Amino acid sequence: MAKCSKEKASKNEALTQKTSVKSEKNTAQIRVMTIDDYDGVYKLWMSIHGFAIRSVDDSREGVEVFLKRNPCTSVVAVEDGKIVGAILCGHDGRRGCLYHVCVHEDYRMRGIGKAMVVFCMKALREEKINKVSLIAFTTNDVGNKFWHQIGWTKREDLNYYDFTLNEKNIIAYNK
Ligand SMILES: CC(C)(COP(=O)(O)OP(=O)(O)OC[C@H]1O[C@@H](n2cnc3c(N)ncnc32)[C@H](O)[C@@H]1OP(=O)(O)O)[C@@H](O)C(=O)NCCC(=O)NCCS
Repeated sequence: MAKCSKEKASKNEALTQKTSVKSEKNTAQIRVMTIDDYDGVYKLWMSIHGFAIRSVDDSREGVEVFLKRNPCTSVVAVEDGKIVGAILCGHDGRRGCLYHVCVHEDYRMRGIGKAMVVFCMKALREEKINKVSLIAFTTNDVGNKFWHQIGWTKREDLNYYDFTLNEKNIIAYNK
């Protein structure tokens, strides 16, 4: 199983500090997510309007499995002593993927979202991953504007397919 050494994690953080969008607006600390962050991250998820949370994948156990496979690539933003932003980011050895990209409403439009994405992209590059993707609901205007603004490509030439392997992995949408 992959391990994220403290050295590697802090190298990722150092890279981000040097080259990222950290600006006067963004005073959050951006760092690697660990399972100890779960309660804070879950609280943040529950505060995000319209967020889709899965009963199995997003449980503590589900996130722990994800972070064990991908120990260096997920991120949190910490400010005012709490987690105000988070991204689950991992890869399968070929492609990277981002899940649950979010910033608390009170901390938006200050560069935190972009700084976290840059952090993840650098961490993936460190692991020799060449491409990263994510899913955004077509109805998510905020999310789609953000991805467009930070230069990601919207693919018009693909259909997205999936198949449910576990019916117990129920989805619930935040109000
Ligand atoms: C999407 C989200 C993570 C953006 O976080 P953020 O910290 O506010 O974003 P940033 O401040 O880093 O913005 C980066 C750029 O995107 C732009 N941007 C961000 N949100 C925007 C919006 N709603 N409309 C237009 N532009 C937006 C910013 O102006 C900034 O542009 P700049 O680099 O030219 O200055 C946040 O709005 C959020 O959590 N939304 C709810 C969850 C969600 O939809 N996640 C995406 C799932 S696919």
